[in-house]
Amino acid sequence: ARAAGMAGPSLTFAEAPHTIAENHQVAAGYDAQIVIRWGDKVTADAPAFDPLRQSAAAQARQFGYNNDHIGYCPLPLGSDHSEHGLLVINHEYTDSWLMFPGLTDKDAVAKVTREQAEIELAAHGLSVIEVRKLAGNWRVVENSVYARRITVETPMAVSGPAAGHDRLKTTADPSGLALRGTLNNCAGGLTPWGTVLTAEENFHQYFSGVPHGAEAAAHKRVGIVGKPEYSWGKHFDRFNVATEPNEPNRFGWLVEVDPHDPRSVPVKRTALGRFKHEAANVVVNGNGRVSVYTGDDERFEYLYRFVTHGKIDHGNRAANLRLLDDGVLYVAKFHDDGRLTWLPLIFGNALLNRDHGFNSQADVVIDARRAADLMGATPMDRPEDVETNPVTGKVYMMCTNNTKRQAEQTNAANPRANNAHGHVIEMIPPRVDGHVDHTALEYTWTVFLLAGPKDQGRYHPQTSPSGWMSAPDNMAFDPAGRLWIATDQGSSQAENGIPDGMYAMETEGPFRALSRFFYACPRGAEMCGPMFTPDGKTLFVAVQHPGEDKGSTFDAPSTRFPDFQAGMPPRPSVVAITKKDGGVIGSSA
Ligand code: FEO
Ligand code: CA
Ligand code: CA
Ligand code: CA
Repeated sequence: ARAAGMAGPSLTFAEAPHTIAENHQVAAGYDAQIVIRWGDKVTADAPAFDPLRQSAAAQARQFGYNNDHIGYCPLPLGSDHSEHGLLVINHEYTDSWLMFPGLTDKDAVAKVTREQAEIELAAHGLSVIEVRKLAGNWRVVENSVYARRITVETPMAVSGPAAGHDRLKTTADPSGLALRGTLNNCAGGLTPWGTVLTAEENFHQYFSGVPHGAEAAAHKRVGIVGKPEYSWGKHFDRFNVATEPNEPNRFGWLVEVDPHDPRSVPVKRTALGRFKHEAANVVVNGNGRVSVYTGDDERFEYLYRFVTHGKIDHGNRAANLRLLDDGVLYVAKFHDDGRLTWLPLIFGNALLNRDHGFNSQADVVIDARRAADLMGATPMDRPEDVETNPVTGKVYMMCTNNTKRQAEQTNAANPRANNAHGHVIEMIPPRVDGHVDHTALEYTWTVFLLAGPKDQGRYHPQTSPSGWMSAPDNMAFDPAGRLWIATDQGSSQAENGIPDGMYAMETEGPFRALSRFFYACPRGAEMCGPMFTPDGKTLFVAVQHPGEDKGSTFDAPSTRFPDFQAGMPPRPSVVAITKKDGGVIGSSA
């Protein structure tokens, strides 16, 4: 913390090189250690990783692909232990051409075999690992009782308004209650009762077949149009909407996972709506009710908030595990005058009735996007992560980019046409009785930062030549309330000429939005999963899809991060960043 009267910013680390390299790079005075890589052992019975002899049975016991969100859950449950805990890690998607020899990125649908597709299913989902910091080094605890893989085959429960609804019933599950697997788990969030919410994002890309019948319009609204990006529909009936038209309705939810009970069944919480959830971040209000912020990451989609009816009971974990089943889902409307109003998505309210194709709250949550359209929500430039600053209570949203926005579609909250670099919005809930009220129906908002090269963006004027970013995606707050932004430029990385990575800044005071570059991903990777331990001395990050560059393949990758061994493909990895002197992340070396 900065002493009163001192003039400088509190973030004083020397910036990392703002250059694309085969290896990762961290600010001077810091260590960046690999905690776990794709293929490493998760469960005690996992075989050693052999990329040339991979099998679905092995992959279902090993660390999955494309690590995204990282949840750090201190052990024991309820403590704020910062050197022993569980990491609950999402495996968002797979890159067949970087996982298997002989393929290119053009072959992901046509040439992936059934056996390879089964490996892909097993490489999705989540991993739970137990980790411990010993002598400054983070290690995976072997043979942990908590170690667990969750995949596209894992049994899932479903709760809330859509549980057991006809639109969730399939040939394999006539009850609509026995779901199987979770898909495209992007970011997520922790609950105060020690569970993780994992967000099912781009579920549409796994489904082949041309939509028909009663679900056709709903499928088209989420992008299921007979153009899959995976081979799965060819190999498994449930991923073909021509044979199983209701299977897509079983994805696109927030899923609650209890890592403290390795036998717990993950639950899809349908009250929080179905769309391409990017993340889910939970905040407890002064009155005990719980609010959850969650964005729908697609161009011109919306920001949502869920508010529970019930109140958190710190002495009754079992009751807290049911909190997210009962409450109100809202969608955001950003007014040009700086007001933000939350519009409730409740069956029977406004146009959400039978005349408009909604027969119950189940239809409202299954078709949340269409309900939000009818309520007049504001289409945004791809809402990614949304989080609350633990110190100020203000809420931040990453709008990653939207090159499709035309000049006549701009507004105060989406101010740029052809928004190639994205922006960050700051939302300010009102204070009630001394508490920030995340249940209020009206907030104010402002643009916190416009990303892009310094002459195109808007940052603090003292931001260095290394401090500019493109495509803000995920974020984390450190315990002091400083904002750490992770970027995902995708195929624009080479064009922009900068790596993806972590940028840190204060959000209040004279150095607001003074962005500094802290950590660079290896080439082709995006930065995911930033998560601090409660003491602020470890920053976990997820290096997702290293080597996902144009023309890069298993056989000739653009990087072999992190092993750099001949024949070993690049491996998505979780990295623990610590300060060499053991101090809090952010200060100088
Ligand atoms: Fe999976 Fe919106 O990033
Ligand atoms: Ca993301
Ligand atoms: Ca986050
Ligand atoms: Ca992204």
